[in-house]
Amino acid sequence: MGFTLWFTGLSGAGKSTLSMHVYLEIRRRMLKAELLDGDLIRTNFSSELGFSREHRDLNVRRIGFISHLLNKNGVNSVVAAIAPFEQAREQNRKLLDNYVEVWCKCPLEVVEARDVKGLYARARAGEIAAFTGISSPYEAPLNADIVCETDRETVTASVRKVLCALEERGFLPKADDCERSDYSKFDEQAWRLRLAELGYAKQR
Ligand code: ADX
Repeated sequence: MGFTLWFTGLSGAGKSTLSMHVYLEIRRRMLKAELLDGDLIRTNFSSELGFSREHRDLNVRRIGFISHLLNKNGVNSVVAAIAPFEQAREQNRKLLDNYVEVWCKCPLEVVEARDVKGLYARARAGEIAAFTGISSPYEAPLNADIVCETDRETVTASVRKVLCALEERGFLPKADDCERSDYSKFDEQAWRLRLAELGYAKQR
């Protein structure tokens, strides 16, 4: 039985970055895993859905169900999706035997100042409706298993924290060389290439 590691948090809080590093490390330790990133899932699997509460909950439940199928077959699932509503997250916790929630915690002011995708500016300008944190709520997780304060911790520290938590739960074998890895030096181009080699990141 596999596990589901779900990164939740505001857009720009670091979900994709952390999930990719953790995913690659899980694969490096010879475990089967799949990476389910919100943007890719929405493009390929939930393209008819918008961002109302109903549609988000449906999206989150779908990702939960795919994870359930994967886990049942011994494939671990690493998810990066906002999943803003506690009730939907808790439904997945009930559905999935080995559910581990990581809250990428970062204040709105910080993600908005970063505005990696330029979406916060567009949301403030009224160009995007129901934007999480601006015009749609993000309910802070009540039962997160791991909290990564991404405005205060380095990528390396957050990745290590998640890997240690998986090791403690017996989900991941320990690796002697992990302490030496500096994930923040890993450049984006390199991990995109690695993901492509693994057959990932094919967008329609
Ligand atoms: S969720 O709420 O259903 O979990 P999901 O993680 O799949 O969200 O998708 C979020 C991504 O959709 C963001 O990274 C962003 O690129 C894009 N997006 C487009 N519109 C919105 C919106 N109104 N609110 C949040 N994200 C949006």
